[in-house]
Amino acid sequence: MILTGRSRLAGVLGWPVGHSRSPRLHNHWLERYGIDGAYVPLPVRPESFASAVTALANLSFLGANVTVPHKEAALRVCDEVTSSARRIGAVNTLFFHDERILGDNTDAYGFIQNLFEGCPKWKATSGPAVILGAGGAARALCVALMDAGAPEILIANRTRTRAEKLADSLSQDSGGERLRIVEWGHWSDMLSGANLLVNATSLGMSGQPPLDIDLSALPGTALVNDIVYAPLETDLLLRARERGNWVVDGLGMLLHQAVPGFTGWFERTPEVDEELRHFVLEG
Ligand code: ATR
Repeated sequence: MILTGRSRLAGVLGWPVGHSRSPRLHNHWLERYGIDGAYVPLPVRPESFASAVTALANLSFLGANVTVPHKEAALRVCDEVTSSARRIGAVNTLFFHDERILGDNTDAYGFIQNLFEGCPKWKATSGPAVILGAGGAARALCVALMDAGAPEILIANRTRTRAEKLADSLSQDSGGERLRIVEWGHWSDMLSGANLLVNATSLGMSGQPPLDIDLSALPGTALVNDIVYAPLETDLLLRARERGNWVVDGLGMLLHQAVPGFTGWFERTPEVDEELRHFVLEG
């Protein structure tokens, strides 16, 4: 690590923050590119979030990532937010610039970039996308797929009203008319004709029940993605791979969502490659 009096500083605000892989990821890039800088974990209680952000800006930090439970509060401390952050309703990346706080949400970018890099032959515009889930992650996926030109975006959630709220809140945005709610468990209706299936629920994560979905109606040409990355190959991805579908795991979303922040703070576009994947997984 290189640290001088001119080091560039960034970090991640969360409560707790010990589980975050971001310090490992960003410091690996700093090391790789020989940058004079550091990226530090910043455990901050919810009631101290706004003052902590002001303090970081006063300490000449260049910015920070924001994780649970601060992502919605982060939207409120910004002087300006990107269209992604506004539509997702949460900020995960802060930039301190000229006494102003700029907020972005890079989850939609990370998600779509992971699909493009993980499966270059796949095209978002080729057919309907099916999203399972209606939490914060599903919301970022909807925005990404609206922007990428998916002709139809089907949302299925155990609690249907939550899916309806999600679609309603995005309905006025460009592409919002392409969102449609489908009934959770009606697998063959939602999967026949799908070009993409993404699990944005917590099902399949280590310690959680598996996602019990019947894939028989899913076209062989569809791409299957899971935003869960522990385990790396979920039961969903394993079954999709075994029946011949393209599959992309969830780790790449975590890695790609970090790229815009690092680029803005440290003025170098970092690479997402196999070596980085292994390094982050080992941590
Ligand atoms: P995040 O913000 O990370 O997306 P979240 O808001 O807690 O997390 O959302 C978790 C998602 O997993 C929700 O879509 C949730 O469905 P509900 O809205 O019905 O709660 C889904 N989920 C969690 N456990 C589930 C289960 N046992 N069966 C089906 N869906 C489940």
